[in-house]
Amino acid sequence: MIHLRPLREDDLTLCHDIDRRVSNHPWPLDIFRRGLQKNHWARVAVDEADRPYAFCICLLVADELSVLNIAVDQSRQRQGVARHMITAALEAGRAHGADQAFLEVRQSNLPAQALYASMDFNVAGVRENYYPARAACRSDSITEGSPPMRGREHALIMARTLL
Ligand SMILES: CC(C)(COP(=O)(O)OP(=O)(O)OC[C@H]1O[C@@H](n2cnc3c(N)ncnc32)[C@H](O)[C@@H]1OP(=O)(O)O)[C@@H](O)C(=O)NCCC(=O)NCCS
Repeated sequence: MIHLRPLREDDLTLCHDIDRRVSNHPWPLDIFRRGLQKNHWARVAVDEADRPYAFCICLLVADELSVLNIAVDQSRQRQGVARHMITAALEAGRAHGADQAFLEVRQSNLPAQALYASMDFNVAGVRENYYPARAACRSDSITEGSPPMRGREHALIMARTLL
């Protein structure tokens, strides 16, 4: 069973640690603090000891839900945790009156794109050369589309309706 609760101040370091373990370009610690602000929906998935092993941080403004960051610790991946968190975020967006959800994802991040596509997000646009390129190429590196500028990587904008 996946247990979600709101992000707390004392979770920030742990979430930052998770992000550093699983992301090629983790957020700086300070950015996590924004998840505590009022217009954010930020949840952690916690183990039996109430210790976070995953997080999802979203912004709720007007009629839009933006998924800002999501990560699941390696040992908990492929167990439906991210799907569960995004489902909860979409519900929160609907309850808030949002009718659209958006996110940005690196063109090379095929696992995340597969997750979002499986949850009815579609590619709505491309921000060319938006991200600094990842430090090292791995098996999920860029395979399609126009090549990015050296040292930069395109962002895909993905969107879905909440209606
Ligand atoms: C992307 C990420 C959040 C997915 O978390 P997760 O809890 O493992 O995902 P789920 O188990 O909920 O997967 C749901 C679906 O997403 C897709 N998916 C998830 N991980 C995948 C992978 N590595 N390869 C292919 N498809 C994947 C599958 O369709 C999966 O359904 P299935 O397991 O029934 O096939 C996780 O891999 C992660 O933390 N990655 C590093 C951080 C990151 O890239 N965040 C996204 C930033 S935009």
